[in-house]
Amino acid sequence: MENLDWKNLGFGYRDTDYNIRCWYRNGQWGELEISSSVLINLHMSATTLHYGQEAFEGLKAFKGKDGKVRIFRMDENAKRLQHSCDGILMARLPVEKFMEAVRMAVRMNHAYIPPYESGASLYIRPLLIGTGPQIGVKPSNEYLFIVFVTPVGPYFPEGFQPTDLVIMRGYDRAAPQGTGKYKVGGNYAASMVEGMKAKKDGFSAVLYLDSKEKKYLDECGPANFFGIRDNTYITPLSDSILPSITNKSLMVLAEEMGLKIERRKVPYEELETFEEVGACGTAAVISPIKGVFDADKKKWFTYGKNPGKWSAKLYQKLRAIQYGDEPDTHGWVEVLE
Ligand SMILES: Cc1ncc(COP(=O)(O)O)c(C=O)c1O
Repeated sequence: MENLDWKNLGFGYRDTDYNIRCWYRNGQWGELEISSSVLINLHMSATTLHYGQEAFEGLKAFKGKDGKVRIFRMDENAKRLQHSCDGILMARLPVEKFMEAVRMAVRMNHAYIPPYESGASLYIRPLLIGTGPQIGVKPSNEYLFIVFVTPVGPYFPEGFQPTDLVIMRGYDRAAPQGTGKYKVGGNYAASMVEGMKAKKDGFSAVLYLDSKEKKYLDECGPANFFGIRDNTYITPLSDSILPSITNKSLMVLAEEMGLKIERRKVPYEELETFEEVGACGTAAVISPIKGVFDADKKKWFTYGKNPGKWSAKLYQKLRAIQYGDEPDTHGWVEVLE
């Protein structure tokens, strides 16, 4: 293994030594297999290639000051993958099989888990694809589940950095009763045009409004949205957003810190009223937002150049639990044997 510059890894793919695979054939899941190949031998008519039968997950493992490796809430990712499988008619992977594959993938690539001091972590990417051939629009009868890992640098190498979001009503990532609540590849394909446009224009992501009425806030391209006002943590309730495990955790921590929690439809107009705004997800925990630009109305909503006090507290608390600096009183973390 090359000598990695842990602090400057960035968020990108890097080869590690092994990945874990499991096949679904003849109506059942097989044994977990260890592979040292990054390639898949795939039928050209596999449903994943034509009809988008693909779902994935994203989670992380962290090395603590004590040298122990902690995996954050992987049972939640396992359940969300099952939900995604139900959403696009793929075979459900048992939760225990998911978790065992994740543990194996982390253990087998132990040398790639970044040291505590670096602020980096090991990103874990499980995916599940339809591999059986179909030429009509039908679900596959064969599936492949893979877990690979890749070390990723600290999201904020220069410290917690606020960024800007943009609203563009001309694009939807998901239909009102569509697949937005599942973590399936098609949603991400559908978000690329506006996502790249946003980046080119200097924004970190698109803030989507609900696709039906464009009245309510939905989520950011790759993360959930929250706002804080009058000691209240407010986050959208919507059928077309991904149920973020980070957001779910932050709601628990915010409540323990004395904030009120409101998970409800959040009208666009409320952007005017927030004291703090953030995007939350596995990649960054919290990305504080300093401004939201409405590109259609040419209007800015601004929230100050520095991260708000609640966002900073929540960010620090969740990171401390993940790295083992503070006790895990919620049973969120599994220490890897
Ligand atoms: C569309 C979308 N929303 C929200 C999230 C955040 O979810 P989580 O906190 O589980 O990483 C992600 C990332 O997984 C995402 O892709």
